[in-house]
Amino acid sequence: MTERSFKGKTVLLTAGPTHEPIDPVRFIGNHSTGKMGYALAECFAAHGASVQLVSGPTNLQAQHPNITVTHVTTADEMYAAVLELVDAADILVFAAAVADYKPKAAAARKIKKSGNELTIELVKNVDIAAALGQRKKAGQFSVGFALETHDESANALEKLQKKNLDMIVLNSLNDPGAGFRHDTNKITILEQHATTAFDLKKKTAVAQDIINLIWDRVHG
Ligand code: CTP
Repeated sequence: MTERSFKGKTVLLTAGPTHEPIDPVRFIGNHSTGKMGYALAECFAAHGASVQLVSGPTNLQAQHPNITVTHVTTADEMYAAVLELVDAADILVFAAAVADYKPKAAAARKIKKSGNELTIELVKNVDIAAALGQRKKAGQFSVGFALETHDESANALEKLQKKNLDMIVLNSLNDPGAGFRHDTNKITILEQHATTAFDLKKKTAVAQDIINLIWDRVHG
């Protein structure tokens, strides 16, 4: 058994992008690969947790037998899946890059090329972390992610408060080797009264750092 055990704990994790359909052949998405979320799922499971992974479209496969994956495509589907699982969860980790907006109505048939301009009306998606933050139960510990390009710490702290998170993992796109499409990441973990900065390292090692700090806060 590893030193920091999550045996008996259930972790609910969102990972990957969401795809919001425009028509049957097109969608709005983003560059998230899901690597950070899947690395966290493996790490939690290796430390004894039972992991419920709600994953948007990725090329990844969960390996550990203690990980149960629910595959979803859109933010609405991700939210519905998370609502089914949240009451049984001790630790919530929002690692998904949820699309902030979706087309107001997906066209039933392929949109054919016509004029020089095409306008697609978008409406806001549900903010899954914020919605769950509002109904967080005593004893539930929640962790979010923030990917920022400017005013990084201030923006991340605002998200921590707005979404009622206990911890937020900040990725700065200004750090070389961090963020989308890299196997490495450089993070800073912000809490209400603490800031912990880490070096650039492999996402699997970053997952271990995140999990160690969560363990300290949940068990310490
Ligand atoms: N998040 C979520 N549902 C959304 C948007 C974000 O659950 N619809 C979660 C992400 O998984 C992440 C955190 O909220 O843990 C912050 O995501 P981010 O996209 O950085 O924040 P936003 O609130 O969307 O702010 P903005 O895009 O304006 O920076």
